Amino acid sequence: MLNKFQTLYRHIIEEERKIPEATGQLSDLLGDIALACKVISLEVNRAGLIDILGMTGTQNVQGEEVKKLDDYANTLLTRIMRLGGHTCAICSEEEESFVPIDEKYCDFSHKYIVHFDPLDGSSNIDANISIGTIFSIYRRVSTKGPGTIEDCLQTGLKQVAAGYVVYGSSTIMVYTAGKGVHGFTLDPSVGEFLLSYGNMTIPKKSKTYSTNEGNYSKWSEGVKKYIDYLKSKDSKTDRPYSSRYVGSLVADFHRNLLYGGIFLYPADEKNKNGKLRLMYEANPLAMIVEQAGGRASSGTKRILEIAPESLHQRTPLIIGSEEDVLMAEKFIKDN
Ligand code: AHG
Ligand code: MN
Ligand code: MN
Repeated sequence: MLNKFQTLYRHIIEEERKIPEATGQLSDLLGDIALACKVISLEVNRAGLIDILGMTGTQNVQGEEVKKLDDYANTLLTRIMRLGGHTCAICSEEEESFVPIDEKYCDFSHKYIVHFDPLDGSSNIDANISIGTIFSIYRRVSTKGPGTIEDCLQTGLKQVAAGYVVYGSSTIMVYTAGKGVHGFTLDPSVGEFLLSYGNMTIPKKSKTYSTNEGNYSKWSEGVKKYIDYLKSKDSKTDRPYSSRYVGSLVADFHRNLLYGGIFLYPADEKNKNGKLRLMYEANPLAMIVEQAGGRASSGTKRILEIAPESLHQRTPLIIGSEEDVLMAEKFIKDN
């Protein structure tokens, strides 16, 4: 039976205890991320009240406008990771390069690299629409000192943990450390994430697709035909599918994880590698979806097997219910 009074931190510790060689550091690190996300959640909730909404007036490394909350979340996560003492480098969607932890503070106990998208869906902030934070953790490959670019550029298969937080009608954190996917809802009255979904699994087949269909004319033939297929009528295969698109990847992904669904951000004639980032968005969600029994693909390749060449690399992303993703891949292959 689901223990509704199980806190996130206790759950993480109990999971880590099952691994004989574990030192507790990963638990501490996940606990630090959860703490940062609780503070971000607070700021998101009161953003309208304290004039934090709106632009900073600068652009990030991706050439996009940075919102004040993006800045806030990035600074807070970086600071908490740095002080936590378990990371040797931090990589963020909002930073041009990776941030190595200063030699003075960095010894052999700094085993991990953390990647994050501090605020996902930031174009939705001002409209009170769900946004989130995505994170991913790797073990370092170097042996001492500040982390290196080789530590930061590992394939998604090497992730030791990944997760996200959705700041929505309530705040929920979903994580995996390679042994199933678990969800915790923040109870603001006690300030704790409490277990709300143990061992989450995604339905094998769905009736819902999520994509920015405004890009239709720019897509490849395969993607166009797949979406046409989903929209055409056939009761045997539950078509037509419903369309749901929030425009915040975490929110679209979370809904699909719960109810089943396929999310697509394909390549288009202008953006040959799609829009989403391999390290900050695709890899962590791919690890989670696979742990939940789903599938994540670029259309031609398993996301977790893509060898990264740069930190801000983009990838087409097709992710969600296994049978739906397989069908999308087939359309792409055949066209
Ligand atoms: P971010 O806010 O971190 O830059 O990410 C935005 C992403 C993602 O959350 C969402 O799925 C996608 O951009 C939406 O893009 P379109 O507006 O092109 O549909
Ligand atoms: Mn994002
Ligand atoms: Mn972002």
